[in-house]
Amino acid sequence: MKKSILLITSVAIISTAHEYPKGKLGEVIKLGEDIINHTDTNSLSKSYINSKLQCVNCHRKGKDGRAGTTNKIGTFIGTATSFPAYSKRYKDIISLQNRIDGCFQRCLNGTKSVVNTKVGIAVESYITWLSTGLPINMSSKAPRTPSKIEMWDRDRNKFSSLFKKATHKNYINGKKLYVKKCALCHGIDGEGVESSPPVWGDRSYTADGSMAKLPNGATWIKDNMPLDNANLSDQEVIDITLFINAQPRMSYRGFKVEDNFKKLGLSLEKIREMMFQ
Ligand code: HEC
Ligand code: HEC
Repeated sequence: MKKSILLITSVAIISTAHEYPKGKLGEVIKLGEDIINHTDTNSLSKSYINSKLQCVNCHRKGKDGRAGTTNKIGTFIGTATSFPAYSKRYKDIISLQNRIDGCFQRCLNGTKSVVNTKVGIAVESYITWLSTGLPINMSSKAPRTPSKIEMWDRDRNKFSSLFKKATHKNYINGKKLYVKKCALCHGIDGEGVESSPPVWGDRSYTADGSMAKLPNGATWIKDNMPLDNANLSDQEVIDITLFINAQPRMSYRGFKVEDNFKKLGLSLEKIREMMFQ
């Protein structure tokens, strides 16, 4: 009996949260949703980026078909409740729009800030709408979705120590695994195929994007890929992420691919053995 009441209440909460508010607010939320789904083609957002990525590629759809409602790493459910939040990167308190801009700039290779533009406000409205009814709980720790903070911390620490031991052998194994498990969708040269986005090259995330940081990339990939059947072992995730993130991609304000390796005490040249290839 109790169970069924609970079920009914939670269904009710979900369905109200998914009704667009009336009037202008609803319109702006819908615009934000469209920008997240079609960032590089939406007429307002396309001039803000130089990549071929959509926000939804990393903040994936859930069962309801809406961007960012996945239960995996990358979900936007609850995200807005953390903000304003402390950011280690900025050593300061940042707004949700600042965080959104961070992904526009570093993940999608942004051209200019979206903060307080139509685009920034629309995306903020959509992401905030996904937290309708959830209590505000500003974070003094990290500008992240509250339900995933623990998972991030745990997995990034685990993967950091595994990466520190990586050698050229892991890179070669990563290449083999990439060809076997990922290339069908993402292309042999990482360029992406149809609706599968590029994982390296000029149109992918920049060297300063969160996905380019080895422990972060591994944390996301472990939970999300291969598509609909994320089943890689920790060591496979390490090797594949090492391989992908050693490929060329755009620098961001002077921050280069090799800098992500240096951070972990690794040399990109040695990992790739570039002098012999
Ligand atoms: C290539 C993958 C990628 C793309 C594309 C991307 N993001 Fe992110 N985003 C991430 C990762 C990974 C994190 C978590 C990183 C961290 O906390 O260090 C993140 C975090 C965030 C957060 C903070 C909440 C959280 O879950 O930690 C927001 C808000 C966000 N992204 C918005 C956007 C928006 C808006 C876009 C499109 C303009 C976008 N992202 C595109 C990878 C991506
Ligand atoms: C069946 C096709 C398929 C396979 C296999 C697959 N992916 Fe993906 N991948 C996708 C799609 C589609 C997306 C975008 C997800 C979305 O929009 O919901 C994606 C997104 C990504 C992203 C984030 C966006 C970007 O382009 O940077 C990364 C990183 C990624 N995949 C890595 C991998 C890795 C590593 C493997 C192999 C272990 C893999 N994928 C296997 C289809 C696939």
